[in-house]
Amino acid sequence: MKADVLLGLQWGDEGKGKIVDVIAPKYDIVARFQGGPNAGHTLEFNGLKHVLHLIPSGIFHENIVNIIGNGVVIDPMVFKKEILALEKLGAKPQKNLFISKRAHLILPTHRLLDAASEASKGKEKIGSTLKGIGPAYMDKTGRNGLRVGDIFSPDFKKRYDFLVEKHKQLLGLYDFKYDLKEHEPAWFDGIETVKQFKCIETENYLNHAFAEKKSVLAEGAQGSLLDIDFGSYPFVTSSNTVCAGACTGLGIPPNKIGNVIGIFKAYCTRVGSGPFPTELNDATGEALRKSGNEFGSTTGRPRRCGWLDLPALKYAVAISGVTELIMMKADVLSGHDTIKVCTHYNYNGQKIDFLPYDITSFPLTPVYKDCKGWKSDLQNLAQSIPSELEEYIQFIQKEIKVPITMISVGPDRKQIINRSGILV
Ligand code: GDP
Ligand code: IMO
Ligand code: MG
Repeated sequence: MKADVLLGLQWGDEGKGKIVDVIAPKYDIVARFQGGPNAGHTLEFNGLKHVLHLIPSGIFHENIVNIIGNGVVIDPMVFKKEILALEKLGAKPQKNLFISKRAHLILPTHRLLDAASEASKGKEKIGSTLKGIGPAYMDKTGRNGLRVGDIFSPDFKKRYDFLVEKHKQLLGLYDFKYDLKEHEPAWFDGIETVKQFKCIETENYLNHAFAEKKSVLAEGAQGSLLDIDFGSYPFVTSSNTVCAGACTGLGIPPNKIGNVIGIFKAYCTRVGSGPFPTELNDATGEALRKSGNEFGSTTGRPRRCGWLDLPALKYAVAISGVTELIMMKADVLSGHDTIKVCTHYNYNGQKIDFLPYDITSFPLTPVYKDCKGWKSDLQNLAQSIPSELEEYIQFIQKEIKVPITMISVGPDRKQIINRSGILV
């Protein structure tokens, strides 16, 4: 069997958590491959709303093994909080959650370094989630990091202290006050919680699973336009959010990748700083934020909203080899007379249909096609959809040349419409 990969194609928060939860029953294993507590994946079912950060979104399905892969960065404090919240809801994560020994740890000083770095940048800040993601991945690639497997070693505390000393020197370069003692007890408590879980070589587990014909869903975090290599650098996260990240973040060979499922909103949002060509700084943007309840699942920050950006979507589809699309939040577009879709950009005096390397130094303005809007409340719709929405879907499908197989029309597990996915 092969692993299907599920990815966000925009700037994150496309609705990945909901779809993983919906399609998880088709799989034996759900595995997160990158990111960390910067992610906020929302699941809604049976009147319950739950946000996951580090833990894969298949966790509510008892018979499915959930894996936190080597590409993820883990903050033990956040991990413990999430486990306690899940146990309160009756889940038994100790039974079906495995953690890679190779996953790197986010230390309290990584969080402090993230905050100090952001504060020093003033207006130029990335708008990070302040979860310590950038500094933790810097230590990973700088070959200084601590990994989950290290927590079982007798000299773990010594190695922790050594790294913290380095971080203190770095923190001394900033005008930034902190009290590490405030953060350490909860972090070491979290380490004890992590120790209660099966910490294993998950790459071996997964490759044996393929041999045993088990099916795997690799769950991405963030979105393709936040990828460290292909996103709007430097306004990105610090991991590879594209499909290739599933190979390096889980130890899955490229020839074991099956379907690549791309998740996108029927419009666009972005939280944090950085370019956003189709952003609407007007009443329409405000209306989208309100009807889409566009506030960050991790930080609560208002999300910036705008129309769908096809050149950016095509780029994300190309880089990950997306084979199937799922359109989210179609219900949020109800009530507009006209819905705009960006088909091209005017860039530095030229009309182009791709996302250029530098979208900040030269003027870039979107060129829109007008689509007819619809008024019906899609959240209460059964299986038929308004003809205007059907036209919108067909137009996107034709442009992207990848079938849209599902339309999501509300936050609940059940608010989803399956399509044949036939290109017309
Ligand atoms: P993720 O990070 O990609 O998992 O997405 P988030 O959970 O951060 O953000 C998606 C938000 O939209 C959550 O609040 C979901 O409950 C909600 N949501 C998901 N699908 C739909 C949908 O089709 N319609 C509406 N109105 N809300 C949705
Ligand atoms: P999910 O998985 C949306 C954004 C931050 C910031 C930039 C860098 O829920 O889609 P970081 O903390 O990673 O150093 O922040 O990336 N960002 C996200 N935006 N959804 C996410 O995750 C995000 N994770 C990080 O807002 O702009
Ligand atoms: Mg999110």
